[in-house]
Amino acid sequence: MAFATRAIESLPDTQVVATSRMYWSAPAGGVARCPFINAVVVVETTLSPGELVRACREIEARAGRRPSRRWADRVLDIDLLLVEGLVSRDPEATVPHPRLVDRPFALVPLVEAWPEAANPRTRRRYARLAAAQVPLAVAGALPRPFPEISRARDGATAMKFFLDTANLDEIREAASWGIIDGVTTNPSLIAKEGRDFVDTIYQICTIVDGPVSAETVAVDAPKMIEEGRLLARVHRNVVVKVPLTIEGIKCCKALSSEGIRVNVTLCFQPMQALIAAKAGATYISPFLGRLDDVSEDGMDLIQKIVQIYANYPELKTQVLSASIRHPLHMVQAAMAGSDVATAPFKVYKALYSHPLTDKGNAAFLKDWETVPDRDIIGQVNRWLASRG
Ligand code: E4P
Repeated sequence: MAFATRAIESLPDTQVVATSRMYWSAPAGGVARCPFINAVVVVETTLSPGELVRACREIEARAGRRPSRRWADRVLDIDLLLVEGLVSRDPEATVPHPRLVDRPFALVPLVEAWPEAANPRTRRRYARLAAAQVPLAVAGALPRPFPEISRARDGATAMKFFLDTANLDEIREAASWGIIDGVTTNPSLIAKEGRDFVDTIYQICTIVDGPVSAETVAVDAPKMIEEGRLLARVHRNVVVKVPLTIEGIKCCKALSSEGIRVNVTLCFQPMQALIAAKAGATYISPFLGRLDDVSEDGMDLIQKIVQIYANYPELKTQVLSASIRHPLHMVQAAMAGSDVATAPFKVYKALYSHPLTDKGNAAFLKDWETVPDRDIIGQVNRWLASRG
């Protein structure tokens, strides 16, 4: 739901001006096995109803909806219910929605988000219908209307790419690509390289001019704070990484109040992320891959944290999607609005690659062989000289 709301808000010339809460409803039609969650968003847009419906079909597809039989379980189903003052029989975008008045699960959230919503034919308010008064179970809250919650418009940049490794060769090569914004390490990654910890961190900081996470290993807050203060002195790029334990959060609070940046790691549930943010963390690191490994939906965690942080704009903690195992995790992290994603070297290499890119490039270069003068630099220089 949060994904759909954000996606709708991102449509051209479209602003979400109100949202309802989310409501449970029993599946209609006797086909689906799971209950549904319904909500309404009210938008102001210059898109036509047809354009809006087509854009919503694309959002459904991006959310993973595939063609299925009518009434079947579906991951996301966006319907156009009403356009102010418009009656349209366009089969693609019929408004008002023909079954709106029979559906409490649509009417209840509609009148909650838009109390003045009225039938454009009769001008009677939908709020006066009995179906709009049916009590429904609340499933939760949708994001508050944008742009109030939009972090992207609050000075944030596009998702930052951090490299998740302590291998200096990998870091040097990835840094040469010009797209790496920072580095994360952990005790396991450091141990794997077999090099001196502090020197490794220092070397990484000299290669990448961005945040470099160095993790504490003490188990009690006073020792952790001491480790963190010292690590922060190694290089101005160091971000102190602490585990999401009570001691780690105490340490986060202490270091962040001294102006030392802290990355709180090993986050596996949304409230841990809120705790870290309240303790002043610069980054929270939810672990996607390790949740997927135990049959939990890592991306669901990222979406929830992004939404929770967005609900409270005073929280400045950045969501750093970690434990990324493959390119699809990167896609999902970006779609969820993660501020940062950290991934191993091999995942970044895979991000560049597509067989059709290689095939297409090979074909272009082969065709170029048939061009008589293939020296672009010489041609352009001569052309520029001829123009004085
Ligand atoms: C990064 O900060 C984490 O330590 C790392 O992404 C963990 O990844 P893993 O689950 O693949 O070990």
